[in-house]
Amino acid sequence: MKRVAVLASGAGSNLEAILDYLASLRSTAPCSVVVVASDRPQAGAIEKARARQIEAVVLHEASNPESPELGALLASKQIDLVALAGYLKLVPAAVVDAYASRIVNVHPSLLPAFGGPGMYGLRVHQGVINAHEKISGVTVHYVTHEYDRGPMLAQWPVAVLPTDDAEQLAARVLVVEHALYPRVLAALARGRGDRFPVKPDVKYYANPPISADGLAGEIDALLAG
Ligand code: GRF
Repeated sequence: MKRVAVLASGAGSNLEAILDYLASLRSTAPCSVVVVASDRPQAGAIEKARARQIEAVVLHEASNPESPELGALLASKQIDLVALAGYLKLVPAAVVDAYASRIVNVHPSLLPAFGGPGMYGLRVHQGVINAHEKISGVTVHYVTHEYDRGPMLAQWPVAVLPTDDAEQLAARVLVVEHALYPRVLAALARGRGDRFPVKPDVKYYANPPISADGLAGEIDALLAG
């Protein structure tokens, strides 16, 4: 059983999706979340972890990329895989190096578009709308030394509707994040992280309204195939 650390700064809905998915796999789960770390004591992710009896740690030195704090935490918990889920701080270079190909992030656009420093939250979706894109989506990628630039593991497209505002688009993209990210993480833990489409094919196009269950079924079929 691989040991996962989740890093989160925000509400923690992706953390929750990961926990729910792994719980649903029961004895076949290839990994489990043993610690959640956040730079923000008030992050919803901290609360969600504690509600499930998962150790939650507040990082006091997350703004200092030279700090050994995070690396020491991961080492002390014997972490195998690190999943960023809405984590807004730069991961220290020493951690990126120690976890090369074992540290991943989810981003709510089709990278490399609408990623990079400062592109988080509604800014991503507003950028997509301002650019009159017809398709946005979700990217899961390895974390490297630059924000949002590591090799991609999976992408899934989401339609942008002419009537969308940033909040509406964010909500539909989030549904796809919740279906895709836990499955990519579990596949990675099984050594099968190469099973996903990276260039989103129109056949995976998530037409609204997206059914989370329908999408999850499609992803599972892809993995089984
Ligand atoms: C998600 O959209 C994720 O892609 C981005 O930040 C958001 C985090 O949401 N990196 P949550 O905290 O998981 O609810």
